[in-house]
Amino acid sequence: MKGDLGRVAFIWPSDGLNDDEFLAYLPDDVAWLVNRFPGTLENHSLDIETFKASADLKPMVSAARMMHSVRPDIVALGDHAGSFINGKGSDLEQRDALTEACGAAHGTTVSTALIRVLQHFNWQRVSVCSPYTEEVTDKGLHFLRQHGIEIAAVESIELSDEHAIAGQKLADWTKSLRRIDRPDAAALVIFGGGLHLASMLNDLEVSIGKPIIPATTALVWDVCRLLGIAYLDNRAGSLVSTLARSPSMSKATLKPVPMSDLNKYSSNENMAQRLSTATKIFALGDAPPVFTSAQGCVLVDGAGKQFLDFACGSGTTVLGHAHPVVMQAVRAQMSTGILHIGPHFHTPSQLALIDRLGDILPESLNVIQPATNGTEATEAAIKAAMHATGKQKFISFQGSYHGRTLGAMALSHARGSNSILGALIPETVFMPYTIYSPDFVQQLEQYLESGDIAGVIIETVQATAGMRSADPHCLHLIRKLTKRYQVPLIFDEVFTGFGRTGSLFHFQQLGIEPDLLILGKAAGGGVPGALLAGSAALLRHWKPGTQSSTFQMHPLSAATSLATLDELCRLAPWDRVVAIGDRIRAGLQPSVTSNPHVAALHGVGAMWGLEIVGADGEADRPLTKHIRQIALRHGLITWECGLDGHVIGLTPPLLVSDVEIDKAIEILIQAINQV
Ligand SMILES: Cc1ncc(COP(=O)(O)O)c(C=O)c1O
Repeated sequence: MKGDLGRVAFIWPSDGLNDDEFLAYLPDDVAWLVNRFPGTLENHSLDIETFKASADLKPMVSAARMMHSVRPDIVALGDHAGSFINGKGSDLEQRDALTEACGAAHGTTVSTALIRVLQHFNWQRVSVCSPYTEEVTDKGLHFLRQHGIEIAAVESIELSDEHAIAGQKLADWTKSLRRIDRPDAAALVIFGGGLHLASMLNDLEVSIGKPIIPATTALVWDVCRLLGIAYLDNRAGSLVSTLARSPSMSKATLKPVPMSDLNKYSSNENMAQRLSTATKIFALGDAPPVFTSAQGCVLVDGAGKQFLDFACGSGTTVLGHAHPVVMQAVRAQMSTGILHIGPHFHTPSQLALIDRLGDILPESLNVIQPATNGTEATEAAIKAAMHATGKQKFISFQGSYHGRTLGAMALSHARGSNSILGALIPETVFMPYTIYSPDFVQQLEQYLESGDIAGVIIETVQATAGMRSADPHCLHLIRKLTKRYQVPLIFDEVFTGFGRTGSLFHFQQLGIEPDLLILGKAAGGGVPGALLAGSAALLRHWKPGTQSSTFQMHPLSAATSLATLDELCRLAPWDRVVAIGDRIRAGLQPSVTSNPHVAALHGVGAMWGLEIVGADGEADRPLTKHIRQIALRHGLITWECGLDGHVIGLTPPLLVSDVEIDKAIEILIQAINQV
């Protein structure tokens, strides 16, 4: 038994029913060994006699003794009712006997683990669902009460045996859990549960909106906690993911942030005094949630409240939070000890990313200029086009957004309060956003013919302007004319790139190759990082140092970017992204016809916008904000967009589940109906 993160000796009854259950959820680098003791639940009813028989200490100790030569770090008893059936202390007796028998450093049992979980999170009142008989359930409740845990509600499903537990469907568990959910219950505990239940945990937690703790995750959580490791697996529910908040492998960091500190940080007033007023500040209330952990599509605040993240860190975290592959890339890069080395040198992560992109992108786009964020990559595109053509003027489009530094802003139609700055460099003309007409064609041709134009820059979908898609016919025309007049065509795919529209890059779906491609947001894999891709003709003629920055595609960003890219290529979730879009449209389109405040729904793939108008049919920013506030209160995070701030943006991770989409739609519709 090897194992970089630790060695766990598991002990459970000989029927093998627990095998898949626990082992499937352990981190890869934990080594485990199982020894079984005589005893079975197979074909036995889940009653008190069965569990009493499997609580006998002697056979367990013999099984543990056989693992003495292995010297495990932890011994874990993976049998639930058997460790609580005899009341408080019997679990500890089992734990201590097993720890001594196999010479482990620590021990735990499912019941011990459950109590530790509840105490760790200070969940003093819970509801309980039990698949066992009422008599066994009562023993479990007694055990919890003996540890000071209050019970809000109970349901004993009385299933015939373990196979019946495995046969329970998502809808069955949802019904049972809904029946016992109470406002004052901090979490829902499930005695037993099994592998099948654990695989449905994320969806169950989203539809109930609370942590759900079956035996499996309690034991795995405790084992990881005892080993002092961060467990980053998004299959086993929010309980396990709370360990992901640990930035290092140290046990100390697993302590939650004290609530008193969270209260201090979560006041807007406090933040307002510390931050420049130019930066974005939480606009949906006085006390923004302070998030302390996350998993997949779910963010968790310091009080344990869960939020569905349909803003995705402003469109960055396409694989969701704490994706194991991305987290593993972070750990691997950190384990090299290199945080940064400046732009003159490279790490393997940076070289591998550039190499990989070179393989994936067409030849006309396989030279890469690294950058730190979208606006810097846009600056690089502007300069590359100007250096290559010797011209200084650009064509952009109404509603465009390319960033907030001066050059990128000059090309952005949406300048907000920066419009008072007056004329910016480079000079830019703004055409209607791909409204195809003879006038449009004539105007574009006139500009291009003038011989002044250094580049044409366009977002294939304008996210900031409210998820507006360009007319593909018009894009093809722009490509044809820019080629004819040899003017570089720049696609700003900062938002659409890295999978969001249902292909790795949107230009692939459109069948149009630009001359320069700007990538940012998800291209950093959740860490600041951006890229400009282009041809050798555009990006290999300028002198060294003409365009560089200290942190351009930082080693860590390169590692997370590459992990994201590889995972997207491996999963190729393109049908799924289309299905996400279809589900969002099917869920929200009816509101467009039935609710006078919903003017339109548009988008593509996993980026959608719902336009909100007032009674007069005009864009209504305050109303939009109000709806977003209500949605947030009910656990849904949305993204503000639209030319008048009147569009509710929905940009979930590409791995969002149907249950999560349905829940988000339900919250949003309820919020809209309330105003
Ligand atoms: C299309 C587009 N381009 C550029 C940017 C600027 O990127 P960043 O905020 O990383 O500077 C954004 C940001 O929202 C964007 O949506």
